[in-house]
Amino acid sequence: MSRIETLIGSMTLTEKLGQLTMTASSFTVTGPVIAGDSTQAIRTGEIGNLLNMVGAGPVRDLQRLAVEESRLKIPLLIGLDIIHGHRSLFPVPLAEAGVLDPALWEATAREAATEGAADGLALTFAPMLDVARDPRWGRTVEGCGEDPWLAAQMAMAKVRGFQGANLAARDSLAACAKHFVAYAPVMAGREYASVDVSERTLHEVHLPPFEAAVKAGVATIMPAFTDLAGIPMTAHAGLLRNWLRERMGFEGVIISDYNAIRELLNHGVAQDMPQAAALALNAGVDIDMMADGYRHGLPIALQRGLVSMQQIDTAVRRVLRLKEQLGLFEDPYGRCETREPQQRVARRRQLARTVGAQSLVLLKNERDVLPFGPALRRLAVLGPLADAAGEMRGPWWAAGVAEDQVSVLAGLRTALPQCEVSHAAGVAIDGQDTGGIGAALALCDAADGIVLCLGEAALMSGEAASRVDLSLPGAQQALATAVLRRAKQRGTPCAVVLFSGRPLTVAQLAQDCEALIAAWFPGCEAGHAVADVVLGKVSPSGRTVISWPRSVGQIPVFHGERRSGRPASPADRFTSKYLDSPNEPLFAFGHGLTYGRFRYSNLRVTPAAPTAGDTILVQVDLTNEGLRTARETVFVFTHDVVASVSPPLLQLAGFGRLELAPGGTGTVTVELSAARLRVLDRDLQPVFEPGAVEVLVGPRANRADLLVSTVQLRG
Ligand code: BGC
Repeated sequence: MSRIETLIGSMTLTEKLGQLTMTASSFTVTGPVIAGDSTQAIRTGEIGNLLNMVGAGPVRDLQRLAVEESRLKIPLLIGLDIIHGHRSLFPVPLAEAGVLDPALWEATAREAATEGAADGLALTFAPMLDVARDPRWGRTVEGCGEDPWLAAQMAMAKVRGFQGANLAARDSLAACAKHFVAYAPVMAGREYASVDVSERTLHEVHLPPFEAAVKAGVATIMPAFTDLAGIPMTAHAGLLRNWLRERMGFEGVIISDYNAIRELLNHGVAQDMPQAAALALNAGVDIDMMADGYRHGLPIALQRGLVSMQQIDTAVRRVLRLKEQLGLFEDPYGRCETREPQQRVARRRQLARTVGAQSLVLLKNERDVLPFGPALRRLAVLGPLADAAGEMRGPWWAAGVAEDQVSVLAGLRTALPQCEVSHAAGVAIDGQDTGGIGAALALCDAADGIVLCLGEAALMSGEAASRVDLSLPGAQQALATAVLRRAKQRGTPCAVVLFSGRPLTVAQLAQDCEALIAAWFPGCEAGHAVADVVLGKVSPSGRTVISWPRSVGQIPVFHGERRSGRPASPADRFTSKYLDSPNEPLFAFGHGLTYGRFRYSNLRVTPAAPTAGDTILVQVDLTNEGLRTARETVFVFTHDVVASVSPPLLQLAGFGRLELAPGGTGTVTVELSAARLRVLDRDLQPVFEPGAVEVLVGPRANRADLLVSTVQLRG
């Protein structure tokens, strides 16, 4: 008999339920319930998995209790939310997605895994694959933006990066695709609220990233806290069991979210813990995180006949298999024994700087204000986010400590040793006190360049951080107005650097300033990354992977909208539009300028009449007509002209990149599988429908900026 079957054969019910239980330790608190000391419960086999534990020493101590002092000596599985780096933080996922480089996406996950594993961990609760189209929802920051295809690409890269080639390797972590599924469209953007999306939207938008993660071999999946049309995901047998397990063939471990099994009572679908636990187990949830519902509820559920021992064994088998795949039986202390060489840590920070700089999105650069020239003598670095190292981490920082982050002020001071770099915050991130604006203006008067750092505090986005007002918090708009007016009067170049975990509604700011960078939260090398771009050492290339609304009233605004029977027409009142706002977002999906200036020409799409098995070759020529070397990202969208179901206006199908020196010309080639042009018909079946499909190529999801060629699909 295999080790796993032998173990299952010799386990008591308590020990089995211990393997299905995950409890938090006290390193960090990520939910409303706090666990007590687990030491004794690990010895007795009542707790088999932990989260929120960090450090090779503490991990080894707890692991020893399990593998040396418990009866069956089964190792603990220990996890943490390593969302965008462990100790060395990379840009938040929303920012990193805009780098549009799968190799880099994978590289940062690999580094995060290596660093986390060296801290004793074997599991990360990442990547988050929720497709977010409502930036009121704070967790928008944890995902890859509004596009499902892009999220699927990032899902694959992240799973590869975290898990490496071999899960058992000492530097591999089991990944966790979360939150399954459709957590992002919570009602009115309000955290944890109910979700009600159509079957079609579920299949077109929310499921594809999870399908990609499963195909990439993701080891675990976490159901969302939310209900979908009345069925809490933690108890959603239709999606967990039928779709994920049976249709997708997912054989890994399903881990509930924090206390989510207990919350089935709050949802109003269970009367007591035994019933809640039975609902979750019946739906296919293997591990109960923090509810203690399996430990205390399943014995009673068994007596009531709500679950069977066979179901419990199946879940235990999956958990033990994962521990085996992670190499924990053979080498339970392996991950605590890795010593990371100093050069590796330094290389990781260098990578953080590279990705950080590439994730910055240059939203506006009138008169080529940026980059600032070498003649700079007195730079004023203003605003409440200028000297805010800890905020650079964004809302989910794993083991990253505030002191390890480089602020913008520190980054610019290091980059400009000959320049006098002064600083005033002007106002706080939040609050109405404008008393410091005068001091900021005084620095403007003495400066020949200004960098104004505005935006959200890290914890204004992330979990439990929904907002209804997405304008600049506190008195920051007043500071911006005053500084920009003064800069204009004096002719001093000023760049605004905006930090946030979501797009903000900054139409006024965008209009008033000459240069605007969306920096999101760039991670530990933030200040160096910003300095690299502001001073022109790096030509910006990041793109926004989410549309920026002009106002909250426009939400949701995204590029994959359908046409409507009355598409907007300025000449016709009775068409789909607002009386008081354009339909278009302030900045479209994909927007992001460079220090070059790219002209697109000569779009070729072959074959002209593809069949479902063909690969379509999309080629476009680029010329850099600007004065600086720059890297351009080219997007390929498709639009089905007539289909059995009203098609989206633009559907992202691919992207390519090219770096060109001034005056240089080159060709970007993107290959698409024609099968991707299938539509989900009225029965949600993928069909390849003959007829015309437009292929649109350009820098952002705005039809006016795209070259178009039409192919005829052949059946
Ligand atoms: C979050 C998850 C996270 C878990 C563990 C929950 O509150 O929703 O994303 O993985 O806590 O920290």
